[in-house]
Amino acid sequence: MSTVILVTGGTGLVGKAIEYVIKTEPENSRFGKKPDETWVFASSKEGDLRNPEQTRKLFEKYKPTHVIHLAALVGGLFKNMKYKLTFLRDNILINDNILHTSHLTPSTTKLISCLSTCVFPDKVTYPLDETKIHSGPPHESNFGYAHAKRMVDVQNHAYKEEFGCNFTSAIPTNVFGPNDNFDLEDSHVIPGLIHKCYLAKKNNTPFVVSGTGKPLRQFIFSYDLAKLFIWMLREYDDVEPVILSAGENEEVSIKEVADAIVKAVGFQGAYSFDTTRADGQFRKPASNEKLLGLIGGFEFTPFDQALDTTVKWFIESYDNARTGKKD
Ligand SMILES: NC(=O)c1ccc[n+]([C@@H]2O[C@H](COP(=O)([O-])OP(=O)(O)OC[C@H]3O[C@@H](n4cnc5c(N)ncnc54)[C@H](OP(=O)(O)O)[C@@H]3O)[C@@H](O)[C@H]2O)c1
Repeated sequence: MSTVILVTGGTGLVGKAIEYVIKTEPENSRFGKKPDETWVFASSKEGDLRNPEQTRKLFEKYKPTHVIHLAALVGGLFKNMKYKLTFLRDNILINDNILHTSHLTPSTTKLISCLSTCVFPDKVTYPLDETKIHSGPPHESNFGYAHAKRMVDVQNHAYKEEFGCNFTSAIPTNVFGPNDNFDLEDSHVIPGLIHKCYLAKKNNTPFVVSGTGKPLRQFIFSYDLAKLFIWMLREYDDVEPVILSAGENEEVSIKEVADAIVKAVGFQGAYSFDTTRADGQFRKPASNEKLLGLIGGFEFTPFDQALDTTVKWFIESYDNARTGKKD
């Protein structure tokens, strides 16, 4: 029987990375395309997944056997705080439509949804692991997004218990790579700093990084994450989520991130830290022990190399990249 894999959110950072890996890894290899597979990367133009009828039509059109569900209303801190209910409601609607339509579609045998380490409780013991998702309220700034994502895990268990569905979820740490959102006001730290540094070089202005540069963060390159999703699709069949991340020992400081960006962009002007700006949490490490125990070894792309690829992509694709307003 042929396999049809529907990737929702197929036009975003993670969806484009899966498409890249499927196209570039050797055919029939562990992460490459199998001869009987058809991959469909859906954008919101193919159907607004907040709407049950449009979701149903998408499934009817492609009759997926497998679904990797990435579509979500995603945003930075400011947007999350300003539009709490929208983040809660849109993501609940999108996720519920995907889970229920996957359950109702006879051809669909497996669904992997995407959570985030933002779903973890604010007050928790570190490192984060898969058992701690529901052990306290999430951080106030992520209230809507985190609660909607947590419900996916609750629903996955309920669908399995009541209907025997093969539904599961992945929990990536901070992702970066080509096709990210590089908007100066509403992006994650790496794409935001890349764009800022690029403009500083172009306009001959100082490159100023918010905060002390000391906090540590765990990043995963989107192409590595893509391979891990493909591994889950083919080799992982349990309802319990898996954290998809590089190891705790691979945390990098914001200063190391900024240094690597300065090098990759080739910026030679004045570079400083604005220590009057808040740093956020010092570190929030997540354990990838479960992943490594299951996958049996995985080579993560070295951080500097991944960053270099991302910067090159951004510079080459500047006119088409998601940059918000342009100077
Ligand atoms: N980026 C990170 O650091 C990070 C970290 C942990 C987890 N995640 C999770 O990873 C997944 C993918 O994130 P990403 O960074 O790739 O996001 P992204 O680049 O912002 O892409 C979001 C995708 O979702 C689609 N989408 C949004 N609303 C939709 C709707 N109503 N109906 C249909 N499609 C809709 C978008 O489609 P269009 O562009 O066509 O509108 C786009 O393809 C998300 O579930 C996110 O929560 C991301």
